[in-house]
Amino acid sequence: MAAGPWLLLLCLVAGAALQARAQPDSKGFITVDCGLSEETGYVDDTTKFFNVPDAGFIDTGTNHNISAEYVVPIMLKTWYSVRSFAGAGVRNCYTLRSLEPGLKYMVRARFLYGNYDRLDRFPAFDLYIGVNYWLTVNISGPDAVVFEEAIVVVPENFLQVCLVDIGAGAPFISGLDLRPLKRTLYPHVTPAQGLTLVNRLNFGPTNQSSFFRYPVDPHDRIWDTFFPKYREDPLLPGLERISTTERVRNDDFFEVPSAVLQTAIVPPSVSGNIYFTWYPRPTRIDPTPGHIVILHFAELQVLPRGSVRQLNVTLNDKPWYTSSISPFYLSDLMVNNTVPFNYDGRYKLSVEATSNSTLPPILNAAEVFSVFPTTNLSTDSQDVSAITAIKAKYRVTKNWMGDPCVPNDMAWDRLTCSYGATGSRPRITSVNLSSSDLNGDISLSFTNLKAVQYLDLSNNNLIGSIPDALSQLPSLTLLDLSGNQLDGSIPSGLLKKSQDGSLNLRYRNNPKLCPNGNSCQLPPKKNSKLALYIAVPAVLLVVIVLVTILLICLLKEKKQGSMNNSITPQNETMTDHGTENVIADDRSLRRLESRRFTYKELEMITNNFQQVLGQGGFGYVYSGFLEDGTQVAVKLRSHSSNQGVKEFLAEAEILTRIHHMNLVSMIGYCMDGEYMALVYEYMSEGTLQEHIEGM
Ligand SMILES: *[C@@H]1O[C@H](CO)[C@@H](O)[C@H](O)[C@H]1NC(C)=O
Ligand SMILES: *[C@@H]1O[C@H](CO)[C@@H](O)[C@H](O)[C@H]1NC(C)=O
Ligand SMILES: *[C@@H]1O[C@H](CO)[C@@H](O)[C@H](O)[C@H]1NC(C)=O
Ligand SMILES: *[C@@H]1O[C@H](CO)[C@@H](O)[C@H](O)[C@H]1NC(C)=O
Ligand SMILES: *[C@@H]1O[C@H](CO)[C@@H](O)[C@H](O)[C@H]1NC(C)=O
Ligand SMILES: *[C@@H]1O[C@H](CO)[C@@H](O)[C@H](O)[C@H]1NC(C)=O
Ligand SMILES: *[C@@H]1O[C@H](CO)[C@@H](O)[C@H](O)[C@H]1NC(C)=O
Ligand SMILES: *[C@@H]1O[C@H](CO)[C@@H](O)[C@H](O)[C@H]1NC(C)=O
Repeated sequence: MAAGPWLLLLCLVAGAALQARAQPDSKGFITVDCGLSEETGYVDDTTKFFNVPDAGFIDTGTNHNISAEYVVPIMLKTWYSVRSFAGAGVRNCYTLRSLEPGLKYMVRARFLYGNYDRLDRFPAFDLYIGVNYWLTVNISGPDAVVFEEAIVVVPENFLQVCLVDIGAGAPFISGLDLRPLKRTLYPHVTPAQGLTLVNRLNFGPTNQSSFFRYPVDPHDRIWDTFFPKYREDPLLPGLERISTTERVRNDDFFEVPSAVLQTAIVPPSVSGNIYFTWYPRPTRIDPTPGHIVILHFAELQVLPRGSVRQLNVTLNDKPWYTSSISPFYLSDLMVNNTVPFNYDGRYKLSVEATSNSTLPPILNAAEVFSVFPTTNLSTDSQDVSAITAIKAKYRVTKNWMGDPCVPNDMAWDRLTCSYGATGSRPRITSVNLSSSDLNGDISLSFTNLKAVQYLDLSNNNLIGSIPDALSQLPSLTLLDLSGNQLDGSIPSGLLKKSQDGSLNLRYRNNPKLCPNGNSCQLPPKKNSKLALYIAVPAVLLVVIVLVTILLICLLKEKKQGSMNNSITPQNETMTDHGTENVIADDRSLRRLESRRFTYKELEMITNNFQQVLGQGGFGYVYSGFLEDGTQVAVKLRSHSSNQGVKEFLAEAEILTRIHHMNLVSMIGYCMDGEYMALVYEYMSEGTLQEHIEGM
């Protein structure tokens, strides 16, 4: 029939979409085949899961295939390839997106070394879930298949699983699974505590060579049929398996599938017991992690009249659960501990019949977990989204993987973070991307780093205009944009902050940038609001201009009687404490005819302000030489001087007057961010001295 091709097409479309967006499937599952070279992914014949390649989840590491000698025919395809992080930096992270914040998820990382690097060296490395250390993977051999499973609450709408190089061989990974769990499942898992699977056991299954997972278990937990990892003692001899074909109800927190509960083991006699053992697995942060044990009992037989099955659980030969469990017929009875057990040696859990019991004990299923803290908080989410967008826009590589600030010792290069009180999230307080080959315009995401104090973007290839929104950053005290290709004018908000001393603004060496709105080819002023914006930063310059104009006019009037009324200052009244400010337009500025220097130019002229000629009230005067050899004196307004601006302008007036007395001629001025300077011809020691003292 036609349904077949249509279904196939649907599957293909769904598959392509999955790959494109690297998102959970309709069940919320993500199944990643790490190191897969294919672009589209595939449906696994055995598990029926759609395996996606890992390229959509990570951008570091390299793909490798395991050596042919470790490929066995029944092996799932997912084991054939690995992603390796040899030489890829200390921390490398997979980011699983489109999750539901606050929900519990099961994370399963899978490893098969298979001598993929032909080095025959088995690595050990750390795994982190988000910002919290999870465990250390220690590969014991080329064909060791390692599953590590955790259940955690995911605080954000994404989850990162990070592999951290600890200097014991290159981290690698074969596969990664993510499965959402119901909120009610595993009450031991909280935002502050995760569970690591030690063992998940299905006792007495019919077929020892198969294990249950999806679809038998809708949560895709893998129920082992034996004790693969921590088995020390074999089950006591003579254990019998019992089973039923009736459905077994599971109304508790754990939703154990009926198929798992339908089989159980019993010792041959009432005096026999069922026990299993395991060893705690030390982690980097806890040599003896606590353990949670969850046991499931269900009666599978209709008991003869007068017979009793009643049991007791002991741990390391001490009573744990002594309130005499009598399993219900075809219904799960669950027992678990609330406070984690803590032993530093072997754990031995034993199920025994009580003295009243006429039947031996029974056990259907068990899960053993160790706990790990997930108390460390990730960086403020707004900061994370902003810096992530910045990383993507400028394709920053460095070590920018995982959380920007946490853990402390893996924080991103060129960032500084503040780690506040416990319970508060770290914030990004400085970003220094100077000389980092940034191209394009200044990302607006910088304006979302609300706690940033220092922002250094100097010496890149940034183009476009400076976003005014940068002036809205409440804590910004240093903004270095120098050495770029920025154009337009400095936004008034920034200029204002720079002038009132709250912001150290640097933007020299941007050839196309007009430090003051007036000198740029501004569009015609359309309304008074725009004029108002221009007014504030322009005022200072305007005073210089007007004074100069006035003097020039006076002089010219004396000489020539009258001049054309070519100077038409545009008057704008601002009711600011009763003072009247006047705005000049471009034409009046050109009238000044004195040269405007950038700070960079002054540095060159004065050879980095090497020779001090003297010190006036508002700063130092330096000696320098123009390109044509003219010796000049450069008076630099010290920005530690608070009331300097007004007086500095007074000096402009004085200098202009002096110019006309042919004593010292003003050559130019510099208004470059926080820097203000006057450049005048260097006449003689005496004149200059006079002049300086006159101030
Ligand atoms: C791994 O094997 C597959 C199929 O045999 C091949 O297409 C792919 O290119 C190989 N990948 C690498 C990294 O060698
Ligand atoms: C949490 O952070 C502290 C301090 O950095 C660290 O000592 C601890 O190991 C971290 N815990 C986890 C689970 O990563
Ligand atoms: C990994 O296991 C080997 C063998 O048990 C041990 O010698 C080594 O110290 C372990 N490495 C780490 C990092 O735990
Ligand atoms: C065990 O299960 C596997 C897979 O389900 C099947 O191939 C095999 O035949 C079964 N063996 C027995 C003895 O039933
Ligand atoms: C199982 O553990 C949960 C969470 O700690 C607890 O609320 C519950 O009482 C425990 N139940 C049993 C039967 O042990
Ligand atoms: C359960 O086991 C403990 C330890 O063996 C024993 O002291 C206690 O009496 C038992 N409880 C019952 C009800 O038999
Ligand atoms: C065990 O049997 C005795 C005698 O029948 C009875 O008194 C006691 O309550 C029973 N204990 C339990 C835990 O059922
Ligand atoms: C940014 O880094 C460069 C080079 O590491 C350094 O010279 C500069 O001072 C830093 N900027 C700030 C604001 O600390």
